[in-house]
Amino acid sequence: MEQITKAADLELAVKEAKSQNLEIGLVPTMGALHEGHLSLIERALKENDFVVVSLFVNPIQFNNKEDLEKYPRTIDADLNLISSLIERMEGRRAKELLAFTPTVDEMYPQGEPKEVYHFGPVEEVMEGPRRPGHFSGVAVVVRRLFDLAQPRRAYFGEKDYQQIAIIRALLEQIKYPIELVPCPIVRADDGLALSSRNMRLSPEARAIASTINATLEQAAEMAEYEDVDDVKEWVLDTLSTFHEVNPTLCPNDLKFEPEYFEIVDARTLQPIENWDNAGDLGAVGCIAVWLDGVRLIDIVKF
Ligand code: PAF
Repeated sequence: MEQITKAADLELAVKEAKSQNLEIGLVPTMGALHEGHLSLIERALKENDFVVVSLFVNPIQFNNKEDLEKYPRTIDADLNLISSLIERMEGRRAKELLAFTPTVDEMYPQGEPKEVYHFGPVEEVMEGPRRPGHFSGVAVVVRRLFDLAQPRRAYFGEKDYQQIAIIRALLEQIKYPIELVPCPIVRADDGLALSSRNMRLSPEARAIASTINATLEQAAEMAEYEDVDDVKEWVLDTLSTFHEVNPTLCPNDLKFEPEYFEIVDARTLQPIENWDNAGDLGAVGCIAVWLDGVRLIDIVKF
């Protein structure tokens, strides 16, 4: 593994790889790596000859300054994790992995980019209205990474389900021949979706956080015989009343505060009213819920 910080060095390495007809896989990350990211990197190493992993906390996708400041920056630990993954991985195809760790000035040498992306209905739901400018900021950085790394494939985790739909829409807009590879959520043993935010949960909150996934799994079972609206209501009620039903597990006013739970068409992300309204990718339930001052997201496929 080689670490590079300069965009020009990445371009040179990519040019060299392209001259040898190597297929490039890109894994964009903001660092604070966990097993979820490692599963994307592992897959990219298996499916490509040359892999670029970017580790860059992208300031322009944060609409909340405090969130940006609190975002963990753990580059040395991240690079160690990638090295140990490479060591333990047998049967990988890629001969080379570049860890690209630019500064903000390196990514945005002209200052804050002026480009703004619009994606229509797919960004007008769930995270979109709650995080103004977020998806445009994601699109700007991902396009820049696409331009630099020129990947054949790009890997994104399904926990950020709406982000995948946005990247799909971005690729349609810019018409780059890049295969978008959505990768399944990796979960802790108790079912909690892995996230760099989990480390901010208190032990009490962490102990009950798996309720989110457990509730969603139960919702998937209910979907066999209940209407969409009933399933939605049940999920929101179950989480909002958890502290009342389980007071001993919820000391000091600990409670789940769902921000939204939407059942949507998995491609268009538009809410559905009947299970039959879901298109070719089926239906997916997407949730954002506050616990202990931490905003957690998760999904369930129906
Ligand atoms: O999913 C993330 O970590 C970020 O949104 C991404 C895709 C790396 C862009 O900064």
